[in-house]
Amino acid sequence: MGSHPNILVFDSGLGGLTVLREIVKARPDAHVTYAADDAFFPYGQHSEEALVGRVVPLIGELIDAHTPALVVIACNTASTLVLSHLRAAYSVPFVGTVPAIKPACAASTTKRVSVLGTSGTVKREYTRALIRDFAGGCDVTLVGSVHLAALAEAALGGADVADEAIHAEIAPCFVDADGSRPDTIVLACTHYPLLLDRLMRLAPWPVDWIDPAPAIARRVVTLLGPGSGPSDHQGDHPGAEMVFTSGRLPRFTAALAPYFGGRVPA
Ligand code: DGL
Repeated sequence: MGSHPNILVFDSGLGGLTVLREIVKARPDAHVTYAADDAFFPYGQHSEEALVGRVVPLIGELIDAHTPALVVIACNTASTLVLSHLRAAYSVPFVGTVPAIKPACAASTTKRVSVLGTSGTVKREYTRALIRDFAGGCDVTLVGSVHLAALAEAALGGADVADEAIHAEIAPCFVDADGSRPDTIVLACTHYPLLLDRLMRLAPWPVDWIDPAPAIARRVVTLLGPGSGPSDHQGDHPGAEMVFTSGRLPRFTAALAPYFGGRVPA
């Protein structure tokens, strides 16, 4: 690995790749380890107790195995619950992914915003507090989706996912109240930007879809520094790894390549 700091990016599945993609662009010199807790996917369906009991020790094992300089919890369902526990337990810096309610409400012209997340994320006290503190007079609709993360994984894996299935998950975000419509939708699950083209196409009217990944990458750069560029020209290139808790071997397909900035993870 040479002088390349290791950044550990963690999610329940492949949604965190949408965050990894921005981190790789922002710090092309860093080694990246992508860890997916696919054995426990989807996180949205687990109780808060089960998730804390699962994620806190698992992140400890990943820190021991990969000695990251920084850990990104690229999962809203986990971040809105376990970040404080992780920071109390481990000294490595953490960056979380939480619903981008503040920028969305600041940007909305109609003052109507929908937050599309897992059913776990929309239930969290953390999410409710973000609305209380940052809605700034906006009317915020929370939409908990049960199936969209799994549909995004299926689509990334090459399955033929029907428009109707995606439309059914996003429809509750689009409520027209006597001509007053949401104009901004927070993508509060890292899986959803995997489907962005289809979300835009299936939306009943145009809206801004807020993906927090670029802001997360900027936070990583603030904490780790700007880095030294893609390569030090001495044959010492940053690498990439993919780890699945199910133990399955990483099945690296062409569809995943863009998320790793062209690297092929070990
Ligand atoms: N990618 C995760 C998030 O950001 C959740 C998907 C799941 O339910 O596991 O919330």
